[in-house]
Amino acid sequence: MELHRFSLLALLLAVTCSVAGAYDPLDPKGNITLKWDVISWTPDGYVAMVTMSNYQMYRQILAPGWTLGWSWAKKEVIWSIVGAQATEQGDCSKFKGGIPHSCKRTPAIVDLLPGVPYNQQIANCCKAGVVSAYGQDPAGSVSAFQVSVGLAGTTNKTVKLPVNFTLAGPGPGYTCGPATIVPSTVYLTPDRRRRTQALMTWTVTCTYSQQLASRYPTCCVSFSSFYNSTIVPCERCACGCGHDGYHGGRGTGKSRTGRNNNGYRNNGHGGGSECIMGDSKRALSAGVNTPRKDGAALLQCTSHMCPIRVHWHVKLNYKDYWRAKIAITNFNYRMNYTQWTLVAQHPNLNNVTEVFSFQYKPLLPYGNISA
Ligand SMILES: *[C@@H]1O[C@H](CO)[C@@H](O)[C@H](O)[C@H]1NC(C)=O
Ligand SMILES: *[C@@H]1O[C@H](CO)[C@@H](O)[C@H](O)[C@H]1NC(C)=O
Ligand SMILES: *[C@@H]1O[C@H](CO)[C@@H](O)[C@H](O)[C@H]1NC(C)=O
Ligand SMILES: *[C@@H]1O[C@H](CO)[C@@H](O)[C@H](O)[C@H]1NC(C)=O
Ligand SMILES: *[C@@H]1O[C@H](CO)[C@@H](O)[C@H](O)[C@H]1NC(C)=O
Ligand SMILES: *[C@@H]1O[C@H](CO)[C@@H](O)[C@H](O)[C@H]1NC(C)=O
Repeated sequence: MELHRFSLLALLLAVTCSVAGAYDPLDPKGNITLKWDVISWTPDGYVAMVTMSNYQMYRQILAPGWTLGWSWAKKEVIWSIVGAQATEQGDCSKFKGGIPHSCKRTPAIVDLLPGVPYNQQIANCCKAGVVSAYGQDPAGSVSAFQVSVGLAGTTNKTVKLPVNFTLAGPGPGYTCGPATIVPSTVYLTPDRRRRTQALMTWTVTCTYSQQLASRYPTCCVSFSSFYNSTIVPCERCACGCGHDGYHGGRGTGKSRTGRNNNGYRNNGHGGGSECIMGDSKRALSAGVNTPRKDGAALLQCTSHMCPIRVHWHVKLNYKDYWRAKIAITNFNYRMNYTQWTLVAQHPNLNNVTEVFSFQYKPLLPYGNISA
C-alpha cells in the first residue's frame, strides 16, 4: 500500500518535471506583461516608460537576464534610454547633429547592471535583467526603463505601435502577442493628493511554453527510501542525450557536443547543449561558468543529461503521514540558479504540515490538484 503510494509520488513528480505545452496547468494565468506609458510628446516623437511585470507564480527570469526586442512600424529611432540599453546602435550614418542611441529597425534591449551611475538609473531598473516571479516576490517582479523615441508620431492618432515583440528570459520560451491600446495608466503622486495620467498606454502580453524553450525537461527525478536500499535513478537520457552512442558515467574527459543520428545539434537547453566530464580540465578551469544570453547549457555529462536532478528520499512512511528529504543537484556549469523554485504535484501536498530549510507555498489553481 505504502509502496504503491510512493511509486505514484515518483510518477507524478516525473510528470511535473516534464510539463510541456503552450500553457502551464500549474500557472494557467501566468504571463509577462509589458506596458508602454507615453509620458510626454517631443518635437519628433515621444518618451515612454516601459514596465515589464512578471505575473508568473514561480518562473523567474534568472541571470543573465531578459532581452526584449520589437520591430518599429515606421522609421523610428531611439534617441536615448534610461535604465537599459540597446545591444546594437545600428546604422545612424544619416544623422548629422545628435546621434541616436540606436537606429536598428528591430532593436534588442537589455537591462543595465547594478551599480551604474545614478543618472542612468530609474526605479526598478538595473538588476542585470533578473526579475522575480510575482508569486514568489512581488516587489522584485517588475523591471523598467524609459525610452525616448524619435521620427515617430507625436499625437495619439499618429503614433504607430511597435510590432513583433520578442522576449528571451534568458533563452527561448516566450511568445508575445500584439501591442494593444488600453486605458491610460493613472499615477498617484507620492502624497496621494493628485492623480496624473499617461498620455497614451499600450500593453503586450508574453507567455511561456516549455515546448518552445526546449524539447526536453529541465529536471529529472530520482528516488530512494529508508525501507529499500535500491535507488531508482533518473531515467536514462531523460533530458535528451543525443543518440550517438554516448554512455554516461565513463569517458575520456573529452568534450562532447550533443549531436544525434540525424546530425542536428541537440537544442535541448536553449541554444544547444554540450556536456563535459566533471573531472575534465575544462570543468575545473575558471571561466567555464559564464552564463549565456541564449540560455545554452554546459552540462556535466550524466546518463540522463538533465541540468537538474531532484532526488526524493523517503525518510518516514506511516499510515497518516510521510516525510521526504529533497536534494537538488545542478549539473549546468553556466547557471547558479540562485533563486530556484521547485514545483511538485502530488495529492498529499494539500496537507503539508511542516517544511524545513526552505520556503513553501501552495499553488492551487484547481481544487483537486495540489502543487
Ligand atoms: C496576465 O496576468 C495578470 C495577473 O495574473 C492577469 O490579470 C492578466 O489577465 C493576464 N493577462 C493575460 C492576457 O492573460
Ligand atoms: C512582423 O512579423 C511578420 C511575420 O513574421 C512579418 O511579416 C512582418 O513583416 C513583421 N513586421 C515588421 C515591421 O518587421
Ligand atoms: C487621444 O486623445 C484624445 C484627446 O486628445 C482622446 O479623446 C482620445 O481618447 C485619445 N485616444 C487614445 C487612444 O488615447
Ligand atoms: C526495492 O525496490 C525495487 C525497485 O522498485 C524493487 O524491485 C524491489 O523489489 C524492492 N525491494 C524490496 C525489498 O521491497
Ligand atoms: C556562480 O557562482 C560562482 C561563485 O560565486 C561565480 O564565480 C560564477 O560566476 C557564478 N556563475 C553564474 C553563472 O552566475
Ligand atoms: C490533514 O492532516 C491532518 C493531520 O494529519 C488531518 O487531521 C486532516 O484531516 C488532513 N486534511 C486533509 C484535507 O487531508
